[in-house]
Amino acid sequence: MNQLNQSSEMIKLNFNEVSRKLVRQCSTCGEYIYHVTRTDGKEFNTECRCIERVRDIEEMERMKNDKTTIIEYNKQHCGFTKRDIEDVNATFRTSKGNIKAYNTLISYANAFSDDTSLGFYIYGNVGVGKSLLAKKVMKILLSNGYSTYITNIIQLMKDIKSEVPKFKSDTLRKCQEVDLLVIDDIGTEKPTDFDMEQMFLIINSRYENKKPIIFTSNCKLDDIVQKYDMFGRIYSRIVGTTQFLEIVDNDNRVHKQ
Ligand SMILES: Nc1ncnc2c1ncn2[C@@H]1O[C@H](COP(=O)(O)OP(=O)(O)O)[C@@H](O)[C@H]1O
Ligand SMILES: [Mg+2]
Ligand SMILES: [Zn+2]
Repeated sequence: MNQLNQSSEMIKLNFNEVSRKLVRQCSTCGEYIYHVTRTDGKEFNTECRCIERVRDIEEMERMKNDKTTIIEYNKQHCGFTKRDIEDVNATFRTSKGNIKAYNTLISYANAFSDDTSLGFYIYGNVGVGKSLLAKKVMKILLSNGYSTYITNIIQLMKDIKSEVPKFKSDTLRKCQEVDLLVIDDIGTEKPTDFDMEQMFLIINSRYENKKPIIFTSNCKLDDIVQKYDMFGRIYSRIVGTTQFLEIVDNDNRVHKQ
């Protein structure tokens, strides 16, 4: 009990609370659980991350048989920000330099099935629409009932590190299990050994299960080897499972507010 020696003066009340008393510390995630009395008279115990997580898993189980709920669930968990949602609904302007990538990827998305194992390596300068095209593919998949997730290495590592070490990382699991994974902007960062190990866990698991990945990058694949992959393990998996697509266009960011 000596871990519970936070004095009541130290506990901060939210604006709508009358009291907040420490009940216990969760032995799994380490978060404190409080008994809260609100100004409107409601009383309850706060929840730690473990409880939220269990609820999420239960929700997923309940939804497994309902297609429209699955689509909604997949949309909410696909990693789109508000900006992404606006972006992905805008019309894609085709040009000589992007039409091949556009046609290839849209046909790919429309023909996507449980047997699709081919991914892509979309290469080109900043602002040419690499991420936008990947998100367009995701949008089509989502409306056809597939699960998909977009992330980048920096975000991914931040997410993995923020999770409770005792559980298998939910982020890692999601990256391994979704029907299509998009790893955006690979090559912009300098990965640590931890990063490379996590990357390998994801790329290898998807390779073994024949699940596709779309990469976007302004680095040539050869530069990725230099950066990521002392052993060539990741490189060979990427090369073996993706089709290379190059986009040549102006930087669309400078023309846009
Ligand atoms: N062909 C296009 N048609 C319409 N908007 C585009 C096109 N290409 C890029 N954009 C817009 O320009 C911005 C940058 O595109 P983005 O996909 O993020 O570039 P990249 O990932 O290649 O750096 C985004 O807001 C995107 O919606
Ligand atoms: Mg991008
Ligand atoms: Zn907990």
